[in-house]
Formats: sequence, C-alpha cells, structure tokens
Amino acid sequence: MKKLLAPSLLSANFGNLQHDIELINQSDADWLHIDVMDGVFVPNISFGFPVLKYVKELSHKPLDVHLMIVEPDKFVNEVKATGAIMMNVHYEACTHLHRTIQRIHAADMQAAVTLNPHTPVELLEDIIDDVDMVLLMSVNPGFGGQKFIDNTYSKIARLRAMIERHHAKALIQVDGGVNLDNAAKLYAAGADCLVAGSAVFGADNMVETIAQLKA
Ligand code: DX5
Ligand code: ZN
Repeated sequence: MKKLLAPSLLSANFGNLQHDIELINQSDADWLHIDVMDGVFVPNISFGFPVLKYVKELSHKPLDVHLMIVEPDKFVNEVKATGAIMMNVHYEACTHLHRTIQRIHAADMQAAVTLNPHTPVELLEDIIDDVDMVLLMSVNPGFGGQKFIDNTYSKIARLRAMIERHHAKALIQVDGGVNLDNAAKLYAAGADCLVAGSAVFGADNMVETIAQLKA
C-alpha cells in the first residue's frame, strides 16, 4: 500500500486559511483534500470555486477535490481550474458514471469515484478498470468530526480483492472518522490513502500528527 495522507480542509480554521495551509505545506501530507458540498446531495454547504482560487495559490500540495454535489459533470472545467490532480465524484450522484469519468480524463485529471457507506463495492465491477481511485466513505458525507463506521474494513477487503482480480490500478482512499487510533489498521487493511480532517486540524501540533498518522 502507498500510505498517502490527505488532510481535509473542511476542518481548517476558515478565519485563517493561510496559516493552516502553510502548516500543511510544511508537513509530510501528500495531498490536500477539498470537500465541496452543495446542500442538495448532502445536508451541508461548505465552500466553492471562488475560495479554491486562493487555496490553489497557497497550497504546495496537490489538490484532491471531493465533490459532494449533484450533477458534478457541470463543473469539470471549474475543478480543472483549481489545479486539482484528482476529481472525485459520488457514485450515487452520477447517472452516467462512465461518461463522467471520460470527461474528467479528457480534462487531464485523474478520476475517482466515491461510495457512500451503504453503497456496495460490488457495484464497481464494470467501472473499476477505468478509475484512478475509489473513495470509501467511512461516515455519512456532509460533516467533519463523525464516528468511523466499522463496516468499512470489510469494504476495503472486498474492493482490494476486486482490484487484484482485475489487475486494476485504482487506489483505495478512506474518508471520515480517521484518527491516530485507526490509521495504522486502515493502511494494514489495504487503504492507500487516508483523509483526516478533525484529527489533523484539531491537533495541537498538526505537522507532528500528520507524521504520526502516516507512521
Ligand atoms: C465528510 C468529508 C470528509 C471530512 C472528514 O463529508 O468528506 O472529508 O472532512 O472529516 P473527519 O476526518 O473529521 O471525519
Ligand atoms: Zn471528503
């Protein structure tokens, strides 16, 4: 497994984003995870593209954009303009997921698909060869600071088996309730990339906590 770590900006201090992003720049974090919410697909609204223009200028880490929105196809160009390396759409929000993945690749970004906690990994059997990453939500999307759902371990194992059976390249990312108590276990279970919001931005020493999460 790759043991990548992507702090989620959702838990940062929005009153001083520059300070928090500079700390992430100094850390061992691999990517900066960006949670965009529309108040329709999820019961919360976070931030949008005008804010991400400044995040792009401040962050030295590649941006991994997790869209918790309906009709994400409409925003491929906007996500590309943020400088994102990865555009991540929800399975549950895409009627024509194959077409959406093609559009993301045509815009020269990596394409990821996210599954809500109730969505079985088996639904990816016919798209796994086309995606660069699968994000398994380990909480119901919409808010930081929620409790990790233990069924995620079984989903990681089943997804890892599917990826191996297909000789596919997809990375496995896990998002929600990741902390110092479960990070090592999640990497050992087969996760390549962990997203952590409150565990990083709520820590006294963010740089140190990021190193500990990856250790
Ligand atoms: C939840 C977001 C997560 C969130 C994780 O909808 O997708 O990325 O920020 O926050 P924590 O790590 O606090 O659960
Ligand atoms: Zn997220």
